[in-house]
Amino acid sequence: MTVESVRSETPAAGPRVPNRAGGALPLLGHGWQLVRDPLAFMSRLRDHGDVVRLKLGPKTLYAVTTPALTGVLALSNDFIIAGPLWESLEGLLGKEGVATANGPLHRRQRRTIQPAFRLDAIPAYGPVMEEEAHALTERWKAGETIDCTSESFRVAVRIAARCLLRGDYMDERAERLCVALATVFRGMYRRMVVPLGPLYRLPLPANREFNRALADLHLLVDEIIAERRASGQRPDDLLTALLEAKDDNGKPIGEQEIHDQVVAILTPGSETVASTIMWLLHMLAEHPEHADKVRDEVEAVTGGRPVAFQDVRSLRHTNNVVVEAMRLHPAVWILTRRAVRETELGGFRIPAGADLVYSPYAIQRDARSYERNLEFDPDRWLPDRVKDIPKHAMSPFSTGNRKCPSDHFSMAQLTLITAALARKFRFEQVAGSNARTRVGITLRPYDLLLRPVPR
Ligand code: HEM
Repeated sequence: MTVESVRSETPAAGPRVPNRAGGALPLLGHGWQLVRDPLAFMSRLRDHGDVVRLKLGPKTLYAVTTPALTGVLALSNDFIIAGPLWESLEGLLGKEGVATANGPLHRRQRRTIQPAFRLDAIPAYGPVMEEEAHALTERWKAGETIDCTSESFRVAVRIAARCLLRGDYMDERAERLCVALATVFRGMYRRMVVPLGPLYRLPLPANREFNRALADLHLLVDEIIAERRASGQRPDDLLTALLEAKDDNGKPIGEQEIHDQVVAILTPGSETVASTIMWLLHMLAEHPEHADKVRDEVEAVTGGRPVAFQDVRSLRHTNNVVVEAMRLHPAVWILTRRAVRETELGGFRIPAGADLVYSPYAIQRDARSYERNLEFDPDRWLPDRVKDIPKHAMSPFSTGNRKCPSDHFSMAQLTLITAALARKFRFEQVAGSNARTRVGITLRPYDLLLRPVPR
């Protein structure tokens, strides 16, 4: 596959029209490249300009390829959350959840959820994170094969549900959520890059499976809300904040908004963390020297007792391992925005209503930003080296008003889990394991199977 570019059309004065990436097919445009090898395709676009035009079916999309311009895009008021990714996600997340809302609704919703994610709120989640991290390592027996996909989902869902929704949810729910999200996110991605509308309504097995998974996801959320209401309890948690939220007129928000908000917390909260845990497990198996270094750090910090939430701040190297795994394998690999007015980005003209797209995966692996860019090197995050990394070249949680509210929450649990895993086990690959990158709305290994060996 090649990405040839055509000459930039340069008007006499003013912003330029970006180059167009080559290889577009009639009807599908660049959609086939985004289906066939999207990561390679997105990673090559910077060779053709800081902003590059793509075709998705009849639509023109503007790909932003430099760290600096992704920062401008995320921070400018000229762009909102919208575009093909969000349109397809609305079918999943609903139209009234924080992840897809804009303007005053979005600001109000962020105010509702933000307190649960503030840095000073995180220590209250410490005991649950500790318990779940240790329960995970306790479940695994020496020599057995671990299905890393279901195990990672399980712990991610349990932590999100127990910390934020105070749900004592059965593992069966985590399993259901895992299956439903896997199917729904795969289907959503296809619908985004190959927008063949009516074909997705045909009663084909793949469409039926997608519809079943989507229905179960919404049923799960209804069950969670109904259970809380039936309990008559009002703990001080995110679910209570959502159930009791008021609109700008001081009236209770509607049932649909409550439902969509819970979906908007639970779905990104489990898929992203689960994918990152899978990559961390893969890293521990692939790089035993780094796994040993994590174990040594944990031993030095804890003096042999089980790792605790309060240790997270001292686990500098473990934290750098998590960051480096997220650099090479960002769960969220593609993001979109829409221009609300005609504007300019890096000297390029962006028409009003244009959809823009950028890839944290491409940005975070770019040789122009990182020395030995494809090497797993956690020490690149040491204070004396980190200053060489360009601004916005590492932004797995995004930036600006749409930044993930859960950055502290996620980093704390990921660091704790990595520390608990590396202290107790070494990991070996198992025949039949497939760690190739599976591209959907998030990135994760296809089917990672590992064998834990006690230390
Ligand atoms: C938004 C990444 C974990 C809830 C985002 C965005 C990114 C992201 C990149 C911004 C999207 C954009 O700019 O368009 C991640 C990563 C995670 C993670 C890499 C873990 C490794 C979580 C968790 C939760 C969560 C655990 C909740 C429990 C949300 C929500 C938004 C969001 C609600 C929408 C925010 C808004 O639009 O105002 N996440 N996330 N995320 N994330 Fe996360």
